[in-house]
Amino acid sequence: MANTNTKFRPKKMDSGFCCNNNIVLIGFMGSGKSSVGAQLARSLSRVLLDCDTLIEQTESMRIAEIFAKIGEAGFRQKERALAEWLAHNVRNAVIATGGGLPIFYQEIRNLGVVVYLKTDFETIQARLSDEERAKRPLFVDMQKARALYEERAQSYAACAHHTIDTKGNAHDIASAIITFL
Ligand code: S3P
Repeated sequence: MANTNTKFRPKKMDSGFCCNNNIVLIGFMGSGKSSVGAQLARSLSRVLLDCDTLIEQTESMRIAEIFAKIGEAGFRQKERALAEWLAHNVRNAVIATGGGLPIFYQEIRNLGVVVYLKTDFETIQARLSDEERAKRPLFVDMQKARALYEERAQSYAACAHHTIDTKGNAHDIASAIITFL
């Protein structure tokens, strides 16, 4: 659970902190992982790696096209392969994950210090335009998206080292994250 007062320090990989100094943002679709990640990377002069963008670039396809072509299971395989590669090869980065990554890749803590951006469903609903929802195959049907949100909430909290409420703008949230690293 959240060890919010523990100073981040290098340690061998285990269920606690791992040694690669990455900051890993998790949370439901629309919780602000990419925008907070961009701000965090700017503030800390680190590189931002966005998992969905990396998969899209590697596959030369948008996420929705990947789902249509190889299904969710195929997408999850690619997501897991990317996560394993990041865990072994990336240091000192900010990593914005896709909303399902910590659910399907339970070794998420191997990637770095895991920060859960906790956002209520109503806020997410209001934030995502129809265009943004259309990019996310698991958010096309609002009722199913809400059920998925409820189903995942506990898992996000359980795998995170820190949980932060995403009230406020990306700058404020990034500053709050920096205070407990
Ligand atoms: C997904 C979230 C999406 C993307 C894919 C599946 C999920 O990323 O990885 O559509 O299972 O929650 P964002 O959280 O960046 O929207």
